[in-house]
Amino acid sequence: MKIAILPGDGIGTEIVAEAVKVLHALDLKFESETALVGGAAYEAHGHPLPEATLKLAKEADAVLFGAVGDWKYDKLERALRPEQAILGLRKNLGLFANFRPAICYEELVGASSLKPELIAGLDILIIRELTGDIYFGQPRGRRTAVDGHFPGSEEAFDTMRYSRPEVERIARVAFEAARKRSKRVTSVDKANVLETFQFWKDIVTEVGKEYPDVELDHMYVDNAAMQLVKAPKKFDVVVTGNMFGDILSDEAAMLTGSIGMLPSASLNASNQGLYEPSHGSAPDIAGKGIANPLATILSAAMMLRFSLNQAAAADRIESAVKAVLASGLRTADIHSSGTTKVGTREMGDAVVAAITKKT
Ligand code: NAI
Ligand code: MG
Repeated sequence: MKIAILPGDGIGTEIVAEAVKVLHALDLKFESETALVGGAAYEAHGHPLPEATLKLAKEADAVLFGAVGDWKYDKLERALRPEQAILGLRKNLGLFANFRPAICYEELVGASSLKPELIAGLDILIIRELTGDIYFGQPRGRRTAVDGHFPGSEEAFDTMRYSRPEVERIARVAFEAARKRSKRVTSVDKANVLETFQFWKDIVTEVGKEYPDVELDHMYVDNAAMQLVKAPKKFDVVVTGNMFGDILSDEAAMLTGSIGMLPSASLNASNQGLYEPSHGSAPDIAGKGIANPLATILSAAMMLRFSLNQAAAADRIESAVKAVLASGLRTADIHSSGTTKVGTREMGDAVVAAITKKT
């Protein structure tokens, strides 16, 4: 097993260090190599995704990624911004399926802004298509408008696009995932307004016929945003496009108490994957040692399960995280009265201790 470790910027380095510590505590045999990415790579090599980093990621069985970005790079041309590294990795590795499980741990029911009865026991899976849609669609750019409401004025444009194979493969991923869960898929679209998403809806419906055991329903994205806070437990597997998935998965994160709790996996057709917390580099708290490392630690568990065929080791991490939460330890983002506030490193140490105690 070879793991590429790409900590990135901001809290990325702090939280990845804890996840690596946890991986070592499991006594598995794996090789790992660390490389610069994002702003850290830009500082050292003048590019957010240097060739050597991309090569390492391509050759590894899995990539453990922290986060990239900082406000100080906002003025750079788009191609050199740290966030281009994650887009480049997704594109070059063909990571089209993004899994974002939103699970509300029993101990954190009180940390959410929603009423406890709405989220207790919540366990939904958002599957976001990751390499298409308006984030990658060409053409894009700026120009002088020749038509529209203000011809002759400056305008900017992006293109929303999906091809049939792109929609078919993400739909299959969703139906397969639902088969292992409660056999329900909600496909989220905006078919009432957008041709791209009428096409999406038609294809998901077609693919659904191959899965008669899975119940499929469709929901417009605006309604889905509402239902996620009104009755989130009604969902099981949610499948949607790149942009809607980006937004809805952050919304779902808040159901669980903190974005610091939310892992993610991005997979390609050969189950090679990139694993990262759903949050960003949190420049506002970087360097303070207070970031929650659990989303990254849980991402490492997903990596063991999905790409490295080590489900038992993944279970051990997840049980250790539950045990640590049950013991009352909390980072600042999930801290509440009656619990013990700890920093990033102490939280990582506690997970390691819970793992080594179990063996
Ligand atoms: P963010 O997710 O970095 O932070 C949003 C808020 O959540 C902040 O208040 C932050 O302190 C808090 N937060 C995030 N992770 C946390 C953790 N583990 N523990 C405790 N609190 C946590 O999103 P924001 O502020 O919009 O973006 C910051 C930078 O990150 C930007 O440059 C953005 O482009 C980049 N970004 C990178 C991503 C990636 O690497 N995949 C994803 C999202 C944003
Ligand atoms: Mg996002």
